[in-house]
Amino acid sequence: MLVSAKEMLQKAREGKYAVGQFNINNLEWTKAVLLTAQEMKSPVILGVSEGAGKYMTGFGTVAAMVKAMIDELNITVPVALHLDHGTYDGCYKCIKAGFSSIMFDGSHYPIAENVEKTTELVHVAHQLGLSIEAEVGSIGGEEDGVVGMGECADPDECKQIADLGVDMLAAGIGNIHGKYPENWSGLSFDTLAAVNEKVGDMPLVLHGGTGIPEDMIKKAISLGVAKINVNTECQLSFAAATREYIEAGKDQQGKGFDPRKLLAPGAEAIKATVREKIELFGSANKA
Ligand code: 13P
Repeated sequence: MLVSAKEMLQKAREGKYAVGQFNINNLEWTKAVLLTAQEMKSPVILGVSEGAGKYMTGFGTVAAMVKAMIDELNITVPVALHLDHGTYDGCYKCIKAGFSSIMFDGSHYPIAENVEKTTELVHVAHQLGLSIEAEVGSIGGEEDGVVGMGECADPDECKQIADLGVDMLAAGIGNIHGKYPENWSGLSFDTLAAVNEKVGDMPLVLHGGTGIPEDMIKKAISLGVAKINVNTECQLSFAAATREYIEAGKDQQGKGFDPRKLLAPGAEAIKATVREKIELFGSANKA
């Protein structure tokens, strides 16, 4: 069932758990995430970055694939198809393509411009029944070639953006995309608590979910985080399982080179990672 992310995130915020956003890269990824969410009776968000959208030949292809797959696989849990870190133009492309949710990342604009563009996109998204995420305070690390420094959001600016009627808010709290460096000082719970107090019952989004220790995840959820984004961790498990298959020479045995066989261990590894995260985030049996 393709739905906006609004209701599933409000329920998560109220029930003190988080819905996972798992970024997708291709058919195998999408199938693995959808099947695991269904198996665990969990709502799920499929994240698509602009780079991944381009890789899959365009947002129209992605939306058509996801809709058809939900139908063919009899996926009955709520699924949101969400643009991750969208540009202004990217948001309009995804709205047109049939996504059910968008993120407008205006965090690199001066706050006045972020407000102006977010206001417009909130209006358009809501008229068409889509949910919308905004961001204040950039997330560290690299995403599609853009490197952020992981600054902490200003709670007053968060309130300003939350008041525009967005459905979920990503606030930088020292989180970083990709693997966390050895000298990472951890999430800033002071910032998160201050943001949470300012924005009322707004579902908060934690980007950079890969490699955050379990206790920090649980604490973040207790402070209003209702959506956690995971991308790199699925890529790492896919790559490790694929490498093991090839290093064991299995692609040389029989028809082991058949892509359906070659990509199967990686797909199973993605499923295992998604399963683990759904359990940790507490969204199993919440569909
Ligand atoms: P990771 O790649 O660190 O899991 O972050 C994912 C993310 O935040 C996507 O927006």
